[in-house]
Amino acid sequence: MKIIKERKILQLELNNIQKDDSNSVGFIPTMGALHKGHISLLEKAKTQNKINIVSIFVNPTQFNNSNDLVNYPRTIEEDIDKLEKAGCDIAFIPEAKDVYQENTIIKDDFNFGHIENVMEGKYRKGHFRGVAMVVNIFFELIKPNRAYFGMKDYQQLLIIKSLAHEFHPNIEIIPCNIFRENDGLAMSSRNTLLTNVQREKAPLIYEILKKAKNKFKGIEIDELKEWVNKEFKKDADFNLEYFEIADSDNLILAENKHTHKSLIAFVAVNLGKIRLIDNIPIN
Ligand code: PAJ
Repeated sequence: MKIIKERKILQLELNNIQKDDSNSVGFIPTMGALHKGHISLLEKAKTQNKINIVSIFVNPTQFNNSNDLVNYPRTIEEDIDKLEKAGCDIAFIPEAKDVYQENTIIKDDFNFGHIENVMEGKYRKGHFRGVAMVVNIFFELIKPNRAYFGMKDYQQLLIIKSLAHEFHPNIEIIPCNIFRENDGLAMSSRNTLLTNVQREKAPLIYEILKKAKNKFKGIEIDELKEWVNKEFKKDADFNLEYFEIADSDNLILAENKHTHKSLIAFVAVNLGKIRLIDNIPIN
């Protein structure tokens, strides 16, 4: 595995690789603190591309909370080891000043409409603009054939699909299933920040989602929302930010469950100081 820290060097390497049209390139952007969820994206990419590139970059522009940025877990040596073992071809680990170079125009005037204003977009102002900025920079640099995104961050996946549709039509966006711990907790770099007690409680999030899915048929949406609210209130360590049911295509929030073909239930909850998100297809 090659470890590349500079854009210039990656560009030279890519020039070589992409000279040959049969060298398909897969790209998996990450912020590191890698877990099996990240690795599952790489595993999928390996079945579809000749060369696979994983980037590790804790992107400052997508953090709306400076404490969250400072506290974001960084485990670079372990990450490199995991990527090597998983058969990654190139680990791209740039510095912020190289990603956001001075004297270059950085596109930041994206408009994703409704999908950037609900749920994560509503509660983390500017977050998706930062995500789009950095992914756009990486797409321009790498020009992969395919790029891989987890459905754990479903709203991010739709933002990226929209970005690719408008600015990078040659890049195929591949959605990947949510990878979970044995107890159901969706894997996340932030899970490592939970205390032992919080970690033991965290599977409740997916348990409530699964119960909500079971209840969905026999109950109206506002009743279901109320039920979810009450369930989280039973334990003071949980602080529910939102529970929403939205159309899987456009994230229009569903009020009437009969008017949408495919609905997903989304949750964001603070467990102590750690903010966790999850989702489940519900109909
Ligand atoms: P990060 O949170 O590191 O996630 C990198 C990718 O891994 C994302 O596509 C995310 O959806 C996926 N992922 C995370 N946990 C997963 C799980 N349990 N199962 C399946 N996929 C999972 O998302 C980001 O970084 C950043 O916003 C980024 C796209 C890199 C831009 O900075």
